[in-house]
Amino acid sequence: MSSTQVMVSRARRIAGVARSVPLVPVLLVCSLGLTACGGGVHGTPGASGVRDPYFPKAGNGGYDVTHYGLRLAYDPDAHHLTGTATLTARATEDLSAFNLDLRGLEVEDVTVGGDTARFNRAGQELTVRPPGDLDRGETFRVTVRYSGAPETVTDPDGSEEGWLRTTDGVLALGEPTGSMTWFPGNHHPSDKAAYDLTVTVPEGLRAVSNGELRGETTARGRTTSTWHSAEPMASYLATLAIGRFGVSRSRAGDLPVYTAVDPAEAEASRPVLDRIPEVLRWAEQRFGPYPFSSTGAIVDRAPEVGYALETQSRPVFPGAPDLTLLVHELAHQWYGDSVSPESWRDMWLNEGFATYAEWLWEEDHGGRSAQETFDALYSGDYFDTEEAGEALWDFPPAEPPSAARISDPPVYWRGAMVLQKVRQTAGDERFRRILRGWADTYRYGNADTADFTAFVEKQAPGEDFQGIWDDWLYGKGKPERA
Ligand code: TRP
Ligand code: ZN
Repeated sequence: MSSTQVMVSRARRIAGVARSVPLVPVLLVCSLGLTACGGGVHGTPGASGVRDPYFPKAGNGGYDVTHYGLRLAYDPDAHHLTGTATLTARATEDLSAFNLDLRGLEVEDVTVGGDTARFNRAGQELTVRPPGDLDRGETFRVTVRYSGAPETVTDPDGSEEGWLRTTDGVLALGEPTGSMTWFPGNHHPSDKAAYDLTVTVPEGLRAVSNGELRGETTARGRTTSTWHSAEPMASYLATLAIGRFGVSRSRAGDLPVYTAVDPAEAEASRPVLDRIPEVLRWAEQRFGPYPFSSTGAIVDRAPEVGYALETQSRPVFPGAPDLTLLVHELAHQWYGDSVSPESWRDMWLNEGFATYAEWLWEEDHGGRSAQETFDALYSGDYFDTEEAGEALWDFPPAEPPSAARISDPPVYWRGAMVLQKVRQTAGDERFRRILRGWADTYRYGNADTADFTAFVEKQAPGEDFQGIWDDWLYGKGKPERA
């Protein structure tokens, strides 16, 4: 099963994260009450992270981004990116300064509300100090001009994310933290925003991203494409693929389908991608209305990448996918993309659901039932080796022991087993309503494990799920009973 290979190859080993550098000079100056502190001394610096249990420096406190306007130009031969990022955000506290996350690259200048702002950098933290304080509730615009050679983030297990160069261009992938290699932002899934992305590349290449293509023009040897994503998107789901692609446009019902496929993968991809409308029709029956304004896929040739990603509205595959993997990534559009994790601890809400979707697809198409898949996993017959089967019980899906293990087997398969346990107790009809209701209730938002257990209990009043939560979700080791 190729999705098995993909998931296993996702065992990531992530090294330590950068230390925060406190804003000592700013605090000193402001505490003296100097007029240089602009709009008064009521504001304090926003936090340099949102206290994610696994990536404490990811994201930033004190504001919420509502929109990213990104203008980029990239030349693969020169490996040089120039960018202007304009973020529209709302302050959630009185701010004298705030941080953005950006890894590598040179920052040329920063403005806030059109006025030049001071900034400094330390690790992935770009600290911006606007000329005047921002008031809680105020909407502001920050523009960052930057350039340089974007980095690939390499994890010790060999997985790579961030700016991944391919033979004909680049593939930008951002789970969990790679998007900060190509644009500054509030890089944590808890802050979702709309996007408009304009990308200029040498003529002959194409730039493909999330959402809808709003325009594509070629002049003076360069092609500029504009992409629009109206529905809120977590930054790890933003993608940019630059290269030679064969493009095809069609419809799934009313929904525009845009696929971009590396010519070397075209033949193997076609029969699978042709089934996107069928998979979406099935998924809508199971999960409710498709949450975005367009769909499709990006198939690149990047075998070194080794994993697919559920980039919003248009999942990325590092080579021709099989049908199971397509089902998995499209299911993530509901579970992961529309309903996003509150923190990186909640990965099982992404991967457990997308894995369960594979089981349901199989069940609905004359294959094994989800219960049979569950039984095979429980008895150890599912995997080729005993070792792989045992890895399921390494830790509870709701509590990975470290950042290095948020994509390990317990998150995927044991996460899916939790859903089968819920189904056993709730019954098929209520379980169907739970899957649809979860996607509907948290549509375009974020949810954590406590939201999930509370939601299930509300949908099936009178049933006792406590044993499932204790043994399957939070319990160590292999639960006693299937
Ligand atoms: N989400 C991807 C998938 O389901 C796999 C993946 C890629 C991943 N990068 C990750 C999972 C980082 C957890 C963390 O296909
Ligand atoms: Zn997945």
